Amino acid sequence: MKRKDEIRKADGKLGVLIPGIGGAVSTTFLAGVETVRRGLALPIGSLTQMGTIRLGKRFEYRIPNIKDFVPLSGLDDLVFGGWDIFPANGYEAALQAEVLKQEHLEPVRSFLEGIKPWPAVFNQAYVKNLTGPNVKPESSHMDLVEAVRADIRGFKERNGASRCVMIWCASTEAYLQPAAVHGSLKDFEDGLKKSDPRIPPSMLYAYAALTSGIPYINGAPNLTVDLPAMVELAEKCRVPIAGKDFKTGQTLMKTILAPGLKARMLGLTGWYSTNILGNRDGLVLDDKDSFKTKEESKLSVLQTILQPDLYSQLYRDFYHKVVISYYPPRGDAKEGWDCIDIFGWLGYPMQIKVNFLCRDSILAAPLVLDLVLFADLAQRAEMSGIQEWLSFYFKSPQCAENLYPEHDLFIQSMKLKNTLRYLMGEEQITHLGLDYYYPM
Ligand SMILES: NC(=O)c1ccc[n+]([C@@H]2O[C@H](COP(=O)([O-])OP(=O)(O)OC[C@H]3O[C@@H](n4cnc5c(N)ncnc54)[C@H](O)[C@@H]3O)[C@@H](O)[C@H]2O)c1
Repeated sequence: MKRKDEIRKADGKLGVLIPGIGGAVSTTFLAGVETVRRGLALPIGSLTQMGTIRLGKRFEYRIPNIKDFVPLSGLDDLVFGGWDIFPANGYEAALQAEVLKQEHLEPVRSFLEGIKPWPAVFNQAYVKNLTGPNVKPESSHMDLVEAVRADIRGFKERNGASRCVMIWCASTEAYLQPAAVHGSLKDFEDGLKKSDPRIPPSMLYAYAALTSGIPYINGAPNLTVDLPAMVELAEKCRVPIAGKDFKTGQTLMKTILAPGLKARMLGLTGWYSTNILGNRDGLVLDDKDSFKTKEESKLSVLQTILQPDLYSQLYRDFYHKVVISYYPPRGDAKEGWDCIDIFGWLGYPMQIKVNFLCRDSILAAPLVLDLVLFADLAQRAEMSGIQEWLSFYFKSPQCAENLYPEHDLFIQSMKLKNTLRYLMGEEQITHLGLDYYYPM
C-alpha cells in the first residue's frame, strides 16, 4: 500500500464503466454528474463532494473538505461508457426511468444522448423478468469475456482514459449458492472454458474488468466478486474489489437505528419491514429467485449489529421480516414501512414506526460517484483485493473470510475516515478525548 506522496496522482481521464448503464440508478447518476459539472445543482448525498474530515485535536480546527484532503479524480475528468440490454441512449433511458424531471434532463440532454449502451452480456436464466434486444451474439463464456475486454479497450482509446473503474448498476441476478467452480481461481477458469452455467453474466464482466487491471464495484446483492476465486483474481491482478448492494433506503435507516437501540441496551422482539416499489428494479425483484438474493442481503444486517449471541436477553429470537412488493404506480418513489417492536426497563414493550417515502435512485446516485472515486484512489494507492473500508456504502459489505462484516453506519463512517487519515499520514481519531482533561 502506498501512502501520502507515493499515491499516484489522479492525472488524466477516469473511465466509469457501467453494466446496466440504461437503468434508473445509472441515468440518475450520469445526469446528476453532468448537472453538477455545469454548476446547476449540488451533489447532495456525496461524501466525496460535500463531506469534510477532522484532523488532529479539536482545538486545532483543521477540517478540510475530503476532496481537498485526498487526491481524488475531479468530476470534469470522468468519462462514461457501459452496457445495457436495451439500446436506448442515456436521455431516452432517463426519461423512461422517470426519476428526474424533464426540466432537469433538458439542460444535459446532449450529454445523455451521447451515451449509447454497448450490447450486454445477458442470460435470462439470471434475470427472469427482463428481455431486451441489445445483447452480445457470442455464446461461450470466454468469447463474451473477450468481447467485454474489447469494449473496454475501444472505450479507453476513444476517450484517452488513463484509468477505469467498473461499477455494476445492472439488475439483481437470481440467487446463487457458492459452488466448487467459485472456490479457486483455477476452478473458476476451468469453468469459464467450459461455459459453466453457475457463472452468471456479472462474473463475466467482473473477470473482464479485473484481468484488464480495472477495479470492480458491486452495487447489487449478486455474489460476483464475493467469492474465493474472485478475491484470488483481484489479488493476483492487484486491483481493488468492493460490494455488495448499495445501502440506500430502508437498510440505511436500519443501520442508523439498530446501533442506537443496542447502544442504549434496549431489547427487540421484532422488526417488520415492507416496501412498495414500481420501477424496473421492482419488476426484477418480483421474481422470487432475484428477490431471494436481495432478501439474503437485507436480512443479515440486524443479526450482525445486534449480536444476539452476546446479548441473548435483549435480542434472542427477534423476528425479522422483509417484504418488497412490486407496485407500478409509485415508480422509483419507493415507500417503506418499518414496524419495530422494542422493550425497555423491566421488559415494558414499546413501538417505533418508520415511514420512509424515499427516492431509490436519488439515494443511490451519490454512492455510485463516491465509490468510483474511492475505488480509483484505492487503485492508485495500490490497495488491492477487498476494500472493507468502503463498507459504509453497502448493505452486505464484503470482508475477509474470517471476519464478520461491520454494518453499523457510524463505525463504517469512522472506518472510512480513519482509512483516509491513514493514507494521508494523519493520526487516527479514536474520540478518546481524555487528553483534553488529564495529563496523559
Ligand atoms: N436504487 C437503489 O436504491 C438500489 C439500492 C441497492 C441496490 N440497487 C441495485 O442496483 C441495481 C440497479 O438498480 P436500478 O433501480 O437502476 O434498476 P434498473 O432495472 O432501472 O436498471 C438495471 C439495468 O440493468 C440492465 N441489465 C440487466 N441485466 C444486464 C446485464 N446482464 N448487462 C447489462 N445490463 C443489464 C437493465 O436492462 C436495466 O436497464 C439493481 O441491481 C438494484 O437492486 C439499487
